[in-house]
Amino acid sequence: MLLVYCPSPNTVLLMQNKSQIEFWNGDTGRNWVAYDALMEAMLQPIGETVMDAFRFEPHARALDIGCGCGHPTLSLATRIGAGGSVLGVDISAPMLSVARELTAEKAPERAPINFLEVDAQVHPFQPESFEHVFSRFGVMFFEEPVAAFRNIHHALTASGTLAFCCWQSRTVNPFMTVPAQAALELLPAPPEMPPHAPGPFAFAESDYVHSILSRSGFSDISITPLSHDLIFGAGLPLSEIVEHLVKIGPIAQMVREAPDALQQPVRGRVANALTPFFTENGGITLAGQFWQVTANA
Ligand SMILES: C[S@@+](CC[C@H](N)C(=O)[O-])C[C@H]1O[C@@H](n2cnc3c(N)ncnc32)[C@H](O)[C@@H]1O
Repeated sequence: MLLVYCPSPNTVLLMQNKSQIEFWNGDTGRNWVAYDALMEAMLQPIGETVMDAFRFEPHARALDIGCGCGHPTLSLATRIGAGGSVLGVDISAPMLSVARELTAEKAPERAPINFLEVDAQVHPFQPESFEHVFSRFGVMFFEEPVAAFRNIHHALTASGTLAFCCWQSRTVNPFMTVPAQAALELLPAPPEMPPHAPGPFAFAESDYVHSILSRSGFSDISITPLSHDLIFGAGLPLSEIVEHLVKIGPIAQMVREAPDALQQPVRGRVANALTPFFTENGGITLAGQFWQVTANA
């Protein structure tokens, strides 16, 4: 957490997760919006598998943490049906504006959806106001994960359930390593992140995730490996896929900071490395390794 002199306790709260709030409201949030359809096509099956863990009652109230552009929120609402309700929370204004557009039309057969632009770590959720808390890759970014999950636990009813997915280690995910190794032939390696630093791989170690959840008050914690192919860019030529990957994918930052003279050569190396994983009309397919996490309040 960033330590600053603050005149009031509320100001201190606002300073939490400050760098993530900047990150998800900057280029990264805008790129997720620009590539929403591609990202959704890739991530949708993983989220649906994780959601299958829930048994929804007709009046269920569900919370989607780090809801992003709102696709899983919509799916929760459809699964629950008109008698329940769903709240999506996120810190990214651009992603939430897509979510609000996506769900603007009321549909009588699904639960009503609300969105809030708030930090799930500190937002004062109404106690015991949700039977289910879900997240698709939205809970690895907290500066203080135990505080965040305690806050989330507080929002669940006594018999409430939690289900989320997160990445296993970068090293077992070729979607990350294949383009990165190709780029590293020409570019310097970015600084190593400390193992549990907020970011996509903060929850790579299952023991660490277990300890966070048990210290936050959760019980019956289950963390199981989930393997799912990541399919990106179906229908696009490889050159276009590479162009998208250097904007939103695992090498985005490295390439953004590379000198002009290396921009095309790096793209060439990445395209070569991805060729074995590319099929005409099928995009690139690389194995993905995740954790599927469930727990009870
Ligand atoms: C990898 S994206 C996943 C988005 C969405 N769940 C999906 O699967 O498409 C991570 C999301 O978590 C959100 N996020 C990060 N830290 C957060 C926090 N402290 N509170 C709420 N949302 C947060 C980001 O803004 C971003 O939308």
